[in-house]
Amino acid sequence: MKLIAVSDEEELSRIAAEILISKIKTSDRLVLGLATGKTPLGMYRYLSKYSIESKQSYDHVHTVNLDEYVGSQAYHTYMKEHFFQYVDIPSEQTHLPNGEADSLTVECKSYEDIISNLGGIDLQVLGIGENGHIGFNEPGTNFDSRTHVVQLTESTLSANAKYFIDTNQPKKAITMGIGTILESKEILLLAVGERKANAVKELFKGSINKDIPATALKVHPNVTVLADKGARSLLDKES
Ligand code: GLP
Repeated sequence: MKLIAVSDEEELSRIAAEILISKIKTSDRLVLGLATGKTPLGMYRYLSKYSIESKQSYDHVHTVNLDEYVGSQAYHTYMKEHFFQYVDIPSEQTHLPNGEADSLTVECKSYEDIISNLGGIDLQVLGIGENGHIGFNEPGTNFDSRTHVVQLTESTLSANAKYFIDTNQPKKAITMGIGTILESKEILLLAVGERKANAVKELFKGSINKDIPATALKVHPNVTVLADKGARSLLDKES
């Protein structure tokens, strides 16, 4: 695993966007796995700004998001609001799990089919939960799991409660599995702030274990972690 140490969220956002832009510019077709949450917001800002100012087309990009809440369109709305409205990726090339599907079992299977019909994910962007989750794969999730429905933990519900002030916060979500994520050709994990420091420490210094889902990434051959000072604070203390 490669660690790129950055000073703050601004630098992290710029470098993450530059990594994606260089792939967008040099590929005829690109399948990007995308994440939501607070962490990638700045990266989406840079990507949107670059597309508008440089006139670089993103129309050869296909996107598959990691997750969505059950009974909600929250992440669909997030992606439109923060990224899709600013770029020329055709909407039929953007994919998120449908948390409002009649059958979630069928939806999980179809989502796996979408990813494999695209030929897999070229570059998957990940955030990290305070408890080490990736996507919504909570502690205890099997490393060979595929897209599935999860019951969110209290830790995740309370970390994300701020996004549901006016509406009820869903307690379940659909997420790509850890096995699905690990099949991506390349992975870029973003971590900002001291709240993520323990998860980042476990990622680099801990053993591979299901209690910290992100440690599954240790078996992947092409993972880059971008972490700011806060997220590295427990690493630096020990090294
Ligand atoms: C959510 C998302 C994850 C995200 C994590 C961290 O639970 N499902 O994909 O990585 O939270 O979010 P934030 O970036 O807001 O800290």
